[in-house]
Amino acid sequence: MDTIIRKPGGTPDRGGPAQPLLLATGLRKHFPIPGGVLGRATKVVRAVDDLTLSVAKGETLGVVGESGCGKSTVARLLIRLIKPDLGSVVLDGDPVDEPHGITVNELRRQVQMVFQDSYASLNPRLTIVETIAFAPKAHGLPAADAKERSRDLLAKVGLEPNTFAERYPHELSGGQRQRVNIARALALRPRLVILDEAVSALDKSVEAQVLNMLVDLKSELDLTYLFISHDLNVVQYLSDRVMVMYLGKIVEIGAVEAIYGNPQHPYTRALLSARPSMDPRRRTQEAPIQGDPPNPIDPPSGCRFRTRCPFAEDVCARIEPPLADAGAQAVACHMRVAGSGHSKAATP
Ligand SMILES: Nc1ncnc2c1ncn2[C@@H]1O[C@H](COP(=O)(O)OP(=O)(O)OP(=O)(O)O)[C@@H](O)[C@H]1O
Ligand code: SF4
Ligand SMILES: [Mg+2]
Repeated sequence: MDTIIRKPGGTPDRGGPAQPLLLATGLRKHFPIPGGVLGRATKVVRAVDDLTLSVAKGETLGVVGESGCGKSTVARLLIRLIKPDLGSVVLDGDPVDEPHGITVNELRRQVQMVFQDSYASLNPRLTIVETIAFAPKAHGLPAADAKERSRDLLAKVGLEPNTFAERYPHELSGGQRQRVNIARALALRPRLVILDEAVSALDKSVEAQVLNMLVDLKSELDLTYLFISHDLNVVQYLSDRVMVMYLGKIVEIGAVEAIYGNPQHPYTRALLSARPSMDPRRRTQEAPIQGDPPNPIDPPSGCRFRTRCPFAEDVCARIEPPLADAGAQAVACHMRVAGSGHSKAATP
């Protein structure tokens, strides 16, 4: 029998608060590029490279980084929309797709995703109430119960069921459609919701309303979020921890106060200095980052940021800096590794 019927409140916590809700280890995804002899792939886009991350129960982990750094690929790997070349995912202690673990289907029930494009992700021929009820019905919930759940969720996302239930996607505004997508993502009572630029396409005032709704839903439904956005202010507002990505790797990760208040990696500093700030005292002195990131088909040796880093030295080209503990955050930079050989590193 399906878990959704046995456990009407959703999947209970199993490993206790200290056990990560999600732990991904050594994730790698290289996309082959066809074009070699007889169309055989000779090169690859190194979209995500040996990336390890954990998401704690109840937190919001923000993910930032320039376009193409691999944010969406990480999200798609975590819910197995694409299969990793290497690496594993463990959900509350259960390995995914391994003999003694949980299936990919079970993972996708507990981890849901909301995308940016609200229109493309809705079926134009289903009413809103049918759209939200679809997955619970497919998981074995009787039609009447699924419909009731769907109407409850509509109310939760601020769409009055009597007004909206029988409407079709084209009859809704962008903000309303995104509320429907959020309701649909919640219909299987997930524990983790991945929001990939989920509010980015909305007008600022609508975006603020939907963000506030996400904050309320999180505490009401005991959710955990992975929040991907190019908007550094929104990420700061929403996140408990923040992960900064550059060319398929994590360059810095830590508590939101540490990342925004005391960024350690030159890339994080450049990224933050480029954002508009209302308060001149909070502007950093760092030069904003120049140019585009290098091609992920052939990333620089050693530290991938070295071609744009004002502090790059010999060691940066030779050795990849490890993601090392630096107090409130972890940073991948030779300047922070004692004895690394960088002139700004402490002596061990
Ligand atoms: N299916 C695919 N085939 C080939 N390359 C891909 C594929 N999906 C993504 N890529 C490449 O992988 C890299 C990472 O892409 P990804 O979409 O994860 O970046 P992103 O950080 O989400 O960017 P954005 O901020 O623009 O959404 C990019 O170079 C992209 O072109
Ligand atoms: S490792 Fe070197 S190139 Fe990379 S960020 Fe640090 S100083 Fe710059
Ligand atoms: Mg993306």
